[in-house]
Amino acid sequence: NHPIIFDTDPGVDDAQAIAIALRHPELELLGLTTTYGNVDVEIATHNALLLAELAGREIPVAQGAAAPLVKERHPPPAHIHGTNGLGDIELPPVRGQADPRSAAQFIVDTLNARPGEVTLVSVGPVGNLAAALQLDPTITGKVKRVVVMGGSIREGGNVTPVAEANMFNDPDAAARVLTAGWPLTLVGLDITHRCVLTGEHMARIEAGQGALGKVLAGSYGFYRDFYREFLGIDGCCPHDSCALAWLLRPELFTTSRGHLTVATSGDAEGQTIFAPEGRGFIETRWSRTPLVEVCLGVDGEAVSDWIADTL
Ligand code: BDR
Ligand code: CA
Repeated sequence: NHPIIFDTDPGVDDAQAIAIALRHPELELLGLTTTYGNVDVEIATHNALLLAELAGREIPVAQGAAAPLVKERHPPPAHIHGTNGLGDIELPPVRGQADPRSAAQFIVDTLNARPGEVTLVSVGPVGNLAAALQLDPTITGKVKRVVVMGGSIREGGNVTPVAEANMFNDPDAAARVLTAGWPLTLVGLDITHRCVLTGEHMARIEAGQGALGKVLAGSYGFYRDFYREFLGIDGCCPHDSCALAWLLRPELFTTSRGHLTVATSGDAEGQTIFAPEGRGFIETRWSRTPLVEVCLGVDGEAVSDWIADTL
């Protein structure tokens, strides 16, 4: 059983991952923390509350970063996730309210309450994690593991030729989070671009999930149009669910240990830079950053099926 905090910017693929976090019997979802990214943070919070309510769960939702740590904010990608983050489908009203604490405070409190037990899963820009580190640097020794959906080691970017969206949206926060010296696993585009959630998968999900299934299927339709039009793929990459797939089914992934950081300026802004451990001069040059684990390979079909079956 994995107690987790799920940090998210829902977001169509975030919504799918949230549904897994809410439903999977091996996950104990302690809270959702929200950030701007796919949408403004207020919309992210609204969507997180809504998804939990549709699943019949009372889960704390703590609102976090409204903008990057240092840089100007990039506009939300409404052509990918819709203006409301869930494919612009009509949404039922939300009854609950957000936790009064900030996302960073919620993370700090939760990690301190259960030292060594809680996994922090981040699937949006990582500003809340950076803010939590600033509030309480001792959390690096209290978190069980940090799993970040973001970056790209060999795959190239999805926003610029080299940068993945979550890293690009707050590279300064990402540089701090990836080099903080806590146990960390990166699940980036090298993995998520190997996984496809098909229309057939989604038809099964819609049938099995009641009111939540309607939102997942409706928003999926919008997201799939983007994939078809811009990428020529029939289906969509379930980026954020892949982080949970790694946590629960690590045997479907291959990983490598090394030093990792993010470029924070210039043409490479948001690019993850990885130096595998034990490579002579590369190791020497990069060994000032702590070792982390990055996922490099995956059985994409098995992970896609796992995501669809779990949902
Ligand atoms: C990541 O960017 C966001 O648009 C998705 O939700 C995912 O977290 C993929 O690059
Ligand atoms: Ca996301």
